[in-house]
Amino acid sequence: MGLYKETYQYALNQPEKFWAEAAEELVWQRRWDTILDDSNTPFTKWFSGGKINTCYNAVDFHVEAGRGEQAAIIYDSPVTETKEILSYRNLLDRVSAFAGVLVKYGVTYGDRVIIYMPMIPETVIAMLACTRIGAIHSVVFGGFAANELAKRIDDAKPKLIVSASCGVEPGRVVAYTPLLNGALEISKHQPDKCVIVQRELELAELKNGRDVEWFDAHSHTFPAECAEVDANDPVYILYTSGTTGIPKGVVRPTGGHLVALKWSMKNIFDVNPGEVYWAASDVGWVVGHSYIVYAPLLHGCSSVLYEGKPVGTPDAGAFWRVMSEHKVKCMFTAPTAMRAIKKEDPQGNLIKKYDISNLRSQFLAGERCDPDTLKWTHDLLGVPVIDHWWQTETGWPIASNCIGLEHLPIKPGSPTCAVPSWNIEVLDSSCNSAKAGDIGAISIKLPLPPGSLSTLWKNDKRFIESYMENYPGFYQTGDAGIIDEDNYLHVMSRTDDIINVAGHRLSTGGIEQVLASHSDVAECAVLGVADQLKGQVPLGLLVLKDGVNKPYQEIIDDVIKMVRQDIGPVASFRTAVIVGRLPKTRSGKILRGTIQLIAESKPFEIPATIDDPAILDEIAGALSKIGYAM
Ligand code: COA
Ligand code: AMP
Repeated sequence: MGLYKETYQYALNQPEKFWAEAAEELVWQRRWDTILDDSNTPFTKWFSGGKINTCYNAVDFHVEAGRGEQAAIIYDSPVTETKEILSYRNLLDRVSAFAGVLVKYGVTYGDRVIIYMPMIPETVIAMLACTRIGAIHSVVFGGFAANELAKRIDDAKPKLIVSASCGVEPGRVVAYTPLLNGALEISKHQPDKCVIVQRELELAELKNGRDVEWFDAHSHTFPAECAEVDANDPVYILYTSGTTGIPKGVVRPTGGHLVALKWSMKNIFDVNPGEVYWAASDVGWVVGHSYIVYAPLLHGCSSVLYEGKPVGTPDAGAFWRVMSEHKVKCMFTAPTAMRAIKKEDPQGNLIKKYDISNLRSQFLAGERCDPDTLKWTHDLLGVPVIDHWWQTETGWPIASNCIGLEHLPIKPGSPTCAVPSWNIEVLDSSCNSAKAGDIGAISIKLPLPPGSLSTLWKNDKRFIESYMENYPGFYQTGDAGIIDEDNYLHVMSRTDDIINVAGHRLSTGGIEQVLASHSDVAECAVLGVADQLKGQVPLGLLVLKDGVNKPYQEIIDDVIKMVRQDIGPVASFRTAVIVGRLPKTRSGKILRGTIQLIAESKPFEIPATIDDPAILDEIAGALSKIGYAM
């Protein structure tokens, strides 16, 4: 038996021993009483009774262990032409100082702090400072609009918000404070203070009494020490798209998070302390939380914080420039980023300018990785390209080629096999295990491993309904797929209305709510259609109210603007079409799956339950006018 299988069996049969050993790699303020307490399933507790501080393990520990002068964060920002290296010692000073700021403004253990920030060092500092004093951070991605930010403010009820004057997108400066102000005008909850980082590119006008500039906020403060944090208290809340317009507040428990992430760095990514690790994502997503901030720092690596894009900052060689300049050993990004590079530089000419000989592996996740992209990336980089699968909820990979344990053969289109401690089963609709090769709901047998979500913020009921009810004894991932005869997993599609746009997870239901609020729209449907660059993009179908006689284009432009304003530019909602009616089942359910197949010009069967099959031709006709269903 190879090391992967051996480790998998060990974690499956003796989870308590397996995780106790992994937990020894961290410094605990108080040892746990019980490794696994599943007495109140599915509210599983790991390391109960243990006390541990995230910031201590990510920062202080390394300074004490002699890594003080090593780079902790390598900030590389082509959009502002800035680079800055923060050593572990610098980071410790700045984090403890900002933790003192939080204390000055009355933030205490368990209070929430919303961080609405671009990719700058202060974002990481703010996150770590919260964990230092046992406050719970909730980072909101900068591409979300005021309305989405407001939803998160009302749910998390932060004592304080940390933001910046602006972010930078290629070709435009995104002012953050108007969005923050807009959110606070809508939200019922108001924070006591907003701390704003003023960036030179565009200064924000601060609101008297409410806002305080980042450096000014430091006056009359003292560095704060690490608090003792219960292993099962939340380290952060991260909102992700659910099946409605209301985001789900994924709660991450402190102890399990640290243990699982630390374990993953060597065993999954095969990275050693002292090496440079780069996840080209955004701290607003789970990839950014786990693999820009926490895991690399816990492991004593140098983590690249990249404020740029794969293309256009300044060209499709940007990733290779960063890899060569910072001697990156392991990189992680989304397949869409590779597709963007391939589109602009299909022959890979730009990589020839750079020395990327330090690179040992390239990891891809966030969406299904098509075999062409995997092969192109492998041919270009000449290192193993590893597709791995996980979710905001799980916090770390569920399926991967665990190259630190054993490099299994790669099957393009598959993220390989279950990571040790993840008991994956593909279930049919009767909750039985599907046969090898048969598609079903990808589910995880409970208990979930350490580091996975413990609940949804203040909403145990939604936690149960969303994940635990449909397949008793299992966590429902929302993904459909197969396990093949070699035990490899293939993730094929979602079973709900979530779509994946450029590696970003969006709810079509949420977009539909915005379209439906237009005064001329009677009914609508939004679905994800295949896109060569972004994997999927949302497409809207609108049925107008009787008597509306405005030009169609005016209404389409309106709804596109509304989605940008209400959800944010990240939704990439650019296409809508007006149709006479929508195809439905006799019970009135819109047949979104059939519309999607028509739009993608794929074969489909006329659903037996459809109330009027003639509609399908009308839909195909309307879609062909905008370049789909050809
Ligand atoms: N703040 C404000 N606006 C943002 C933003 C942010 N943090 N991030 C994205 N946006 C905006 C973009 O500027 C764009 O606006 P536009 O409509 O005015 O052009 C819109 O949101 C869509 O952004 P994006 O999906 O990033 O598309 P793009 O066309 O700008 O770039 C890629 C395409 C493929 C280069 C880009 O999506 C990419 O780098 N993807 C990598 C994905 C990734 O890291 N995923 C995380 C999971 S690993
Ligand atoms: P998020 O919570 O934003 O990380 O999105 C998680 C979802 O992205 C998963 O449930 C999948 O639908 C999809 N996803 C992530 N990684 C992969 C992958 N490697 N292969 C297929 N789908 C993926």
